[in-house]
Amino acid sequence: MHVKDKDFRISIPEAQIREQVKRVAMEINRDYAGQEPVFLAVLNGAFIFAADLLREITLPCEISFVKMASYDGEHSTGKVRDLIGLDSNITDRPVIIIEDIVDTGLTMAHMLDTLRKQKPKSIDICTLLLKPDKLCVDIDVRYRCLEIPNDFIVGYGLDYNQQGRNTRDIYTLQS
Ligand code: IMP
Repeated sequence: MHVKDKDFRISIPEAQIREQVKRVAMEINRDYAGQEPVFLAVLNGAFIFAADLLREITLPCEISFVKMASYDGEHSTGKVRDLIGLDSNITDRPVIIIEDIVDTGLTMAHMLDTLRKQKPKSIDICTLLLKPDKLCVDIDVRYRCLEIPNDFIVGYGLDYNQQGRNTRDIYTLQS
């Protein structure tokens, strides 16, 4: 597959993704039995995963869509990252973050810090993909569909320069 200037080859077919999404949804259904979790899906990359996962969840639940906005702060040298779009009250409630991919883990670490200020009952991370060799912060990724090597991937919601999100399978950059 060609996306912009790069070539990608299929690496995780749709059937395998579907199987793993169902497995993780069953784990959540079991672990959260008797609770009413609030799912927070991280845009843009997790939109397809969130839609598929939620249809396998049999618990009473809510979903809200959030985004980590990244911009250069006026008076700081580093990047400022803000959580935007959180329109649910999460205080004293169980929260499950739905993420597309955990790479270094910095995005999730920052999001956890921000959400904990609102004192949720609990927070778990549910990611479609994890690159275990890249993880450089100490976070607990409780639910993960697939672990992958340190390659760049696109498809099933994930992008290369905003394109390539609209495929059923996942593709890896050709070296
Ligand atoms: P982290 O903060 O390093 O864990 O990066 C997480 C974010 O980087 C994800 O939410 C994705 O948006 C993006 N990302 C990391 N690896 C890939 C990849 O292989 N393909 C597409 N996006 C990626």
